[in-house]
Amino acid sequence: MNDGHFSTTHAGDTINAALNRVLAEIKAFLPTMTDFHAAKYVRALDFAQRQVAATVERSPDYFPIYTVSGRWNHPGELWTDWTGGFFAGLMWQFFNRTADPAWRTRAEHYSRLLEHRQHDRNVHDLGFIFLNTYQPWYEWTHDERLHEVLIQAGRTLAMRFRERGQYLCSFIGPESLFIDIMMNVPIIFYAARETDDAELRRIGTAHCRTTRDHLVRPDGSTAHEGIFDVETGRFLRQSTHQGLRADSNWARGLAWSLYGYSQVYALTGDREHLDVAERNADFWLTHLPKDHVPYWDFAADLAAPLPWGPQKDSSAAAIAASGLLDLERQTTDVARAVAYRQTALAMLDALVEPEYLASETPGAEGILKHGVYHTAKNLGVDESVMWGDFFFVEALTKVVHPQE
Ligand code: GLY
Repeated sequence: MNDGHFSTTHAGDTINAALNRVLAEIKAFLPTMTDFHAAKYVRALDFAQRQVAATVERSPDYFPIYTVSGRWNHPGELWTDWTGGFFAGLMWQFFNRTADPAWRTRAEHYSRLLEHRQHDRNVHDLGFIFLNTYQPWYEWTHDERLHEVLIQAGRTLAMRFRERGQYLCSFIGPESLFIDIMMNVPIIFYAARETDDAELRRIGTAHCRTTRDHLVRPDGSTAHEGIFDVETGRFLRQSTHQGLRADSNWARGLAWSLYGYSQVYALTGDREHLDVAERNADFWLTHLPKDHVPYWDFAADLAAPLPWGPQKDSSAAAIAASGLLDLERQTTDVARAVAYRQTALAMLDALVEPEYLASETPGAEGILKHGVYHTAKNLGVDESVMWGDFFFVEALTKVVHPQE
């Protein structure tokens, strides 16, 4: 013990084994849900299933991104085409939860519609698209063809790597690094692990380190974008598209970083990635407003008019809740584990209430209200967003159906 925290030094197997035993015992006493809360989570999951089934019925083969006045199917701008894996991924989550073959049929159908994206070199989002679809499908079947799609998607994403600068570039161009890519780089580590490919591992690790060094700040907050000199690879400055300012902290970007580094730690076991995720979590936990749902940017001026002022982003809360539930199990620090779980549950408790859950909003087609896609472009502001719905369901499922 050290200041109330367990030591993270590796003094020897015997000490580690003993610490792990004690940690497991203490974790068993972490805050658990009351039946009252559990019932709310189950009702929210049931509602989520009805909403997705209704969207499939209403607009077959359509992949929603954000709503306009609460409705999914509209001709609004995509900005970039990155969210298909969330809609199909919801169907896989529902199949995992219910074992209802109708969900599996839908999940396979919508996943198949995405298969060609394994070769898509125009986006940096292949982790979002394939880890939420082909990975659960492969885990159910062990069909080698599905495995090959996952590996190809990892290899395609790796082609975005810039040796000069040591990062995977965003869809904006070769000079641009996005914090969002931290949630996609896990597919490169997955492909590296499955094929024992040291080159893929090198690329993934270099990307994580460059992001840590240039986008993650010492206090754990994050910039949305980094701009590099493409000739020399020199880092030039922080920037943003979806946040308030270059030096602000776009809430969803921080959630992507927290969860992304946690996922990379899960795939690699390299402690350096857990350290970054914990630093992000420190900022998250100490800057959440009273109702536990962040404003769209942690630096938003709450006196400013909407959409730049006090606009919530429920999707950032959903992503962070799911990430914190993983971090709770990964951290070796009991105080942190307790804080991560309490915060994740507090965020979910807020999101299952009618202020955020669309269950009592007539005509709403999404699951969660009050998400934001792109403030500066005025796309999907104060609307349902597909990734918010996906990570909300994922987080609730982790609580209601914990996996050992
Ligand atoms: N560009 C990904 C996002 O909106 O979070």
